[in-house]
Amino acid sequence: MKRFFTDKTVLLGVTGSVAVYKACELVSRMREFGARVHCALTASACELIRPATLEALSGNPVITEMFGPHVSHTISHIAMARDADLILVAPATANILAKAAHGIGDDWLSTALLAARSPVLFAPAMNTHMYTHPATQANIASLKERGNLFVGPAPGRLACGEEGPGRLDEVPHILEAAAQALYTKKDLVGLHVLITSGANFEAIDSARYIGNRSSGKMGAALALEALCRGASVSVVSGPAGHPLPAAAEVVQVQTALEMHEAVFDQLERCDIFIGAAAVADYRVETPSAGKIKRSEEALVLRLVPNPDIIAEVAAGKDPGQRIIGFAAETEEVKERAREKLQRKKLDMIVANQIGGKSCAIGNDRGDAWILTAAGQSEAFPQVKKTTLAKYVFDRLMGS
Ligand code: C5P
Repeated sequence: MKRFFTDKTVLLGVTGSVAVYKACELVSRMREFGARVHCALTASACELIRPATLEALSGNPVITEMFGPHVSHTISHIAMARDADLILVAPATANILAKAAHGIGDDWLSTALLAARSPVLFAPAMNTHMYTHPATQANIASLKERGNLFVGPAPGRLACGEEGPGRLDEVPHILEAAAQALYTKKDLVGLHVLITSGANFEAIDSARYIGNRSSGKMGAALALEALCRGASVSVVSGPAGHPLPAAAEVVQVQTALEMHEAVFDQLERCDIFIGAAAVADYRVETPSAGKIKRSEEALVLRLVPNPDIIAEVAAGKDPGQRIIGFAAETEEVKERAREKLQRKKLDMIVANQIGGKSCAIGNDRGDAWILTAAGQSEAFPQVKKTTLAKYVFDRLMGS
């Protein structure tokens, strides 16, 4: 996340919803990622949270009024709206949405929104009836039409005790949406990216399986990068410990055969296919229906090969589709990756060193190489998976 926020200025507008406490975490996470954060609180937000808390977390004076002593020239609504890379309103009440939709500027934040030149991202939070009210829905529709961005709300139990949409979205989801809004390189707009990610679990019996250590971190990094660059993204994910971005469409699967089916269901609409999953090469031919009983005898499992998903995708691809594979190798990493690139007829392959000290599996970093069908090869020693994701799309898009 760091690379999306470093040296960016975010104006965080905080309005009067009980979810204001989550603004504290948003501020500290964004600062941790290297952003400068300025907070502006509405009068009702000040009733729910002390400005001093956000002042301490942001390291900047908090704006609470239009004409107070704090409001110097540099933090005037005009200067802030001009200089911010992003205006994030979280939590955003029905009131601020209504004011923004109708151009009302009757306090610092609403006036700053009128002067905004940067992207504006709203994270609504309110009672479910307020959210579903036709007036609120019309305001959201008109804000969207004018290019404003939204994240959430999430469904769930609200502070008022009711259930339904209206909860402020989770902080990680808001941060992902902010990262997307902050990223200016939008070279994947209009393209659909389909990614396989994570491991496969192949059943031995009703309780046991054969699996692998894939964490799904690479797939998640690729999905976020593609979303930030403007693509729509779907991920066919096997079991994985790492969460995927909320804006990606996710199909969860367990086995290689399920992954194969889900990929071919979606393949037609994709422009870029990336096989980042550690697909199980074999499955148990006949898994036992019940649980196999322990015995002193050796247990022999007969394994049969799974389909090579990416090779099938590449063999039947449309001329416009681009196919990128991964190769995890313990030795002769580049040579074996190049052989796979050619044999599977891929456009690009990312080779990862596994085993030993610099093992890429499960870690945030590893030694990697990007090889292309045109014969280029580039080394990325100890590269972070999030940075590698950027290079993959940079090289694919020729930038
Ligand atoms: O041959 P190998 O498994 O090393 O190839 C790795 C690449 O092929 C990865 O992109 C992986 O996602 C993909 N793959 C696949 N289906 C398989 C095996 C691997 O799509 N059955």
